[in-house]
Amino acid sequence: MVTTGIERVTIPYLYQQKEHKEKITVLTAYDYPMAKILDESGVDIILVGDSVGMAVLGYETTLPVTMEAMIHHTRAVARARKRAMVVGDMPFLSFHLSLSDSILNAGRFIKEAGADAVKLEGSSPERLKLVEALVEAEIPVMGHVGLTPQSIRRIGGFKVQGTEEEKAEEIYRGALALERSGAFAVVLESVPEELAKEISASLKIPTIGIGAGPDCDGQVLVINDMLGLSAGYMPKFVKKYAELTEVISKAVNNYMLDVRQGRFPDDQHSYHLKKEIAGPLLKKLRKKFSRQNE
Ligand code: KIV
Repeated sequence: MVTTGIERVTIPYLYQQKEHKEKITVLTAYDYPMAKILDESGVDIILVGDSVGMAVLGYETTLPVTMEAMIHHTRAVARARKRAMVVGDMPFLSFHLSLSDSILNAGRFIKEAGADAVKLEGSSPERLKLVEALVEAEIPVMGHVGLTPQSIRRIGGFKVQGTEEEKAEEIYRGALALERSGAFAVVLESVPEELAKEISASLKIPTIGIGAGPDCDGQVLVINDMLGLSAGYMPKFVKKYAELTEVISKAVNNYMLDVRQGRFPDDQHSYHLKKEIAGPLLKKLRKKFSRQNE
């Protein structure tokens, strides 16, 4: 259960966490029951990531995820939240439009879905202009640099970024520029820990790492990955805290066995007619619906 005394995680609270060197905890969630568990456990930020595309919807990348899907999942998460900050992830091509259309899309996360902030990938001059405009429109923005999965076609794979000077400089410059543009936090994804440490020390806003080592101000993981619910390739940075696929498979197999062998449903899981009415009622029904009357 929640140990910190605050009622709701706010941006000033996150700044305070950084100042006091208290780590910020972030996990993704895409539905009501999971968001409720995370919120009640005291997770600071619930990110409704476009990772929903890969974790839940069965896509190979995050690219096909739509605004409608993001709004749908963010609404479910926001309904469950009491304390955590809810951040909605802007999907591919929802913020690469005109400034006004991009602001309207971001605004949908706040107005329609109940999020507190949006996250968007990249730090190009266009992105920075958009971040400024969103902040001006009172829409808090979390930035995201390093490995940006929406750039997967250009990058050529889910691999570590910033191991060479030019890219390391680009990531560093991008994080600083996002801060200058008004972002309240920045995700550093798949970057060497030495670089993430340096960036975290020079930014005033919190850094949230995923595959960026222990010196970021907070950490984020995709919930399905850390619970052992994701199939296929798993990045080096994922630590599994549970093996839920095994737990679920075992439960499903036991269910099938019970059904096939007549052990389920048993008396405990069945409804009954009162003894005194069962006999006469069934007799009456049998007579009424007997196939011989057809
Ligand atoms: O979509 C997502 O879940 C993310 C996190 C991995 C940072 O962007």
